[in-house]
Amino acid sequence: MKKLKIGSFLSMVITLVLVYALVKWGIPAVSREVTTLPFPLPVPGALMFIYMVLTIIALFLFVTFSDEGLSDFLRPVRKFLRGGYGKIPRTVILAAVPVLVGWQVYEIKVPKAEVPASLRIQHPSSNFPRSFETKENPFTNPTDADVSAFVEQAKANEIEFVPQVREDVERWMEETDPGHVLEFVPVEPMKKFLAQLKSGKVDAETAKAALMEKNLFEGRALYSMNCRACHGDSVAGDGPMADGFKLRPLNFNDNGTIETIVVGYTFWRVANGGPGLPPEATPWDSAMPEWKLSLTEEERWKIILAEYDLAQKTPRIPEGH
Ligand code: HEC
Repeated sequence: MKKLKIGSFLSMVITLVLVYALVKWGIPAVSREVTTLPFPLPVPGALMFIYMVLTIIALFLFVTFSDEGLSDFLRPVRKFLRGGYGKIPRTVILAAVPVLVGWQVYEIKVPKAEVPASLRIQHPSSNFPRSFETKENPFTNPTDADVSAFVEQAKANEIEFVPQVREDVERWMEETDPGHVLEFVPVEPMKKFLAQLKSGKVDAETAKAALMEKNLFEGRALYSMNCRACHGDSVAGDGPMADGFKLRPLNFNDNGTIETIVVGYTFWRVANGGPGLPPEATPWDSAMPEWKLSLTEEERWKIILAEYDLAQKTPRIPEGH
């Protein structure tokens, strides 16, 4: 029987294909038998690369070991280049190789808009201190002591405003010379309270409503100074700066935003901003500033009060309440 002799070029190609198939499918198949797991263990791409490079080096050494070996290997290559297998196949292959290489290089190099590996977690909380879970906004429901202190201040016409609005209030006082400093907050509950104050008979309900208005007024003022540029006039996440961020501020008027979190979480997020977020908040970074650096606790709580009020939402009630 005549021994089938294949050329050294073809045997190199077959060896390469066999080694590739062995690493790609053979090893995972064997691994499945060995580990008895219901899935194969794939060979990592880097390891595959190393195996193939080693195989090519070995084949190169083998072919170049002797002059005969080398010329045996090169024979079909020369024949192909001289058009021994036909001119059309030669043209096609010689054109295809640069096109394929160019296409691969293009694929690797062309910038792509990549989908993030994981979805961003909207309310990352792995480093959220649990003690904040039950924190309440001290301005949502003023105590009797708060209300009577407010009434005393109002009687003396000496109301304490947050420092950021004091100058405006003073200038307004000089310009208009009002009967009472609280006229600066020209809303119905405040007018009612001031009328009662004049008549000398203040009821707690009216005083409390007036105090709420005063706190809301301060909160809104602080909001427009500090947050409006990003979060927008009506907390819709459409402030003039909002378009500049990959991670836009959300529309707090939507259900499913600040309504779904406990107010202690909102407080913590406002205090620590983007820099305080845990790694699961990536891939996009939040531009939220770290407000604990520039606003006092009282100011932050008042802003949050105004923020929920502007959105017409209430925070989620903590578990167990
Ligand atoms: C420089 C722009 C910028 C400013 C100024 C800013 N924020 Fe934000 N804020 C963002 C962005 C962007 C997000 C959305 C990304 C995120 O979740 O951190 C956000 C998110 C929030 C959230 C949502 C948190 C959550 O888990 O849903 C709250 C609450 C918030 N901001 C409150 C405020 C308050 C209060 C102020 C003002 C004291 C303020 N922000 C000022 C950019 C800003």
